[in-house]
Amino acid sequence: MRIGIVGGTGDIGEGMALRFAPFFDVIVGSREKEKAEASCGCSIDMLKKRGTECSLTGVSNQTAVDDADIVILAIPFKTLGGTLETLQGFENKIVVSPVNPMEKRDFFEFVPPPEGSAALMVQRMLPKSARICSAFNTIAANKWRALDESLTYSVPVCGDDTAAKRQVMEVVNRISNLQAFDAGPLAVSSLVESLTPLLLNIARYNRLKDVGIQFR
Ligand SMILES: NC(=O)c1ccc[n+]([C@@H]2O[C@H](COP(=O)([O-])OP(=O)(O)OC[C@H]3O[C@@H](n4cnc5c(N)ncnc54)[C@H](OP(=O)(O)O)[C@@H]3O)[C@@H](O)[C@H]2O)c1
Repeated sequence: MRIGIVGGTGDIGEGMALRFAPFFDVIVGSREKEKAEASCGCSIDMLKKRGTECSLTGVSNQTAVDDADIVILAIPFKTLGGTLETLQGFENKIVVSPVNPMEKRDFFEFVPPPEGSAALMVQRMLPKSARICSAFNTIAANKWRALDESLTYSVPVCGDDTAAKRQVMEVVNRISNLQAFDAGPLAVSSLVESLTPLLLNIARYNRLKDVGIQFR
């Protein structure tokens, strides 16, 4: 299984690449191929030191889309529309959005686009055959990168394509102690995306760091 990460050099993308690379072929995308190659070099060194075999390749964002079975859009909401306009080849691909549209005002607020959520905006912008899911919205970047810590979190996964959603849930369940939960159709993504500003407010007002969620 080849997982492409658009914006794979970023806070969450690099951490995801580190966690995924022992299990899947990870294709790290960037606007600058050299930046993706450098990021992969660091990740490979880090994993090698831990004695972990991995598969990581640094490429352009377009190649990360072209060469992947599952594409993760690990880019800030503000750049989402502009970035998707520059990319093509999403037909029939599974596309995962971890994107949370939010702003820090007096407190963190959910600020969705007119579609209602980032995931629904992705669906509107990509070809009809693209199989959009949302996942990984509520795991902090620091936790992805902290390889000595297990990731003991619940991951709500939304999507309208049942087979695509099942595949994404299988990927989630391969990583550390993550547990995927079917959260329903893609329209539910607004609720999932709005959890992150809530978690950030809880962290801020209770002096906590990197708050996550677990369903029991
Ligand atoms: N950070 C978290 O803890 C966290 C947790 C859960 C979900 N998320 C979601 O995950 C997504 C990524 O978050 P992040 O914190 O990883 O973001 P980030 O580090 O700020 O950016 C990720 C990557 O996006 C690319 N990028 C930045 N500006 C761009 C632009 N103007 N146009 C095109 N690409 C641009 C950059 O890659 P290149 O320069 O290599 O192209 C960058 O490395 C967000 O939507 C966020 O809501 C984040």
